Amino acid sequence: MIDITTDLKIRNEFNRWAEAGRGEEMEDHHLPIALPVLDLMRAEPQDTILDLGCGSGWLCRRLARRARQGRVVGIDLSAEMVRRARAASAGYPNLSFLEGAADKIPCRDAAFNKLISIESAYYWPDPGLSVREIFRVLAPHGSAWILINYYRDNPHSHQWGSVAKVWMHLLSAAEWAELFRQAGFADVRHRLIPDPTPAPEVYTGEWFRDAEEIRKFRELGALLVCGIKTAS
Ligand SMILES: C[S@@+](CC[C@H](N)C(=O)[O-])C[C@H]1O[C@@H](n2cnc3c(N)ncnc32)[C@H](O)[C@@H]1O
Repeated sequence: MIDITTDLKIRNEFNRWAEAGRGEEMEDHHLPIALPVLDLMRAEPQDTILDLGCGSGWLCRRLARRARQGRVVGIDLSAEMVRRARAASAGYPNLSFLEGAADKIPCRDAAFNKLISIESAYYWPDPGLSVREIFRVLAPHGSAWILINYYRDNPHSHQWGSVAKVWMHLLSAAEWAELFRQAGFADVRHRLIPDPTPAPEVYTGEWFRDAEEIRKFRELGALLVCGIKTAS
C-alpha cells in the first residue's frame, strides 16, 4: 500500500519542476545517456511503447517518429508534466499521454511490447510493485528498459539523497536486477551507460561537489537494467 502523503509530495515537487521549465531542460541532460538505450531497444515502426515517468514528453516524441505505424504512450505522476507534454505533441497522431503512477499503471494487461523509463524509477515509492506493474502491461516477448543515474554503485550521485526534496531509493544494480527477476522477467541484464558530455570547467550547483565529481559521475555512467517477458 503506497503512502498517499509520499505520493502527493512527489507529485507536487514535479509539478513545480514542470512549472520552472525543468521538464524541457531534462532533454539536454538525459539525451546523451538515452540514445544508447534507444539503439539497444531497437524501436520498430509497428511497436507499442510506454515511456513511464515521461516528464515533458521529449523521448515519447522521438519514439513516436520511430514507431510510425505503432503507438506511444507517455505516463507521468505530475499533471503539469503531462499538460506540457500534450501541448508540445499536437502533431503526433500516434502519441498520447496519461497521468498515472508507476505502481498502478492505468493501462490494460499486455498493452505494450516495449517499455522505457529514464531517470524516474528511484522516485517510485515501491519499486518492486512498480516493476511487477511493468511486467503486467507488457505483452509476451516484450522488453523493459530502465535507466537511472542514482544507484548505489555510483558514489558520485549519493549526495542527491540529501539535496532532493523527496525520498529516493538508493538500490544497487544487483538489487534492481533481482526486482526484475522476482517480477517474472527473464534474460535480466544490467550495464553502465557512460555520459560522453564533457564536464564543465567550474561547477557551482548543489547536486555535485565540484566539476571533477561530475566528470567521474559521467565517466562511470547511468545504470541500465533490462529484461524480457517470456511467452510462458
Ligand atoms: C527526473 S524526471 C525525468 C523525466 C523524463 N523521463 C526525462 O528524462 O526527461 C522524473 C519524472 O518521473 C516522474 N515520476 C516520479 N515518480 C513517479 C511515479 N511514481 N509514477 C510515474 N511517474 C513518476 C516525475 O513526475 C518526473 O516527471
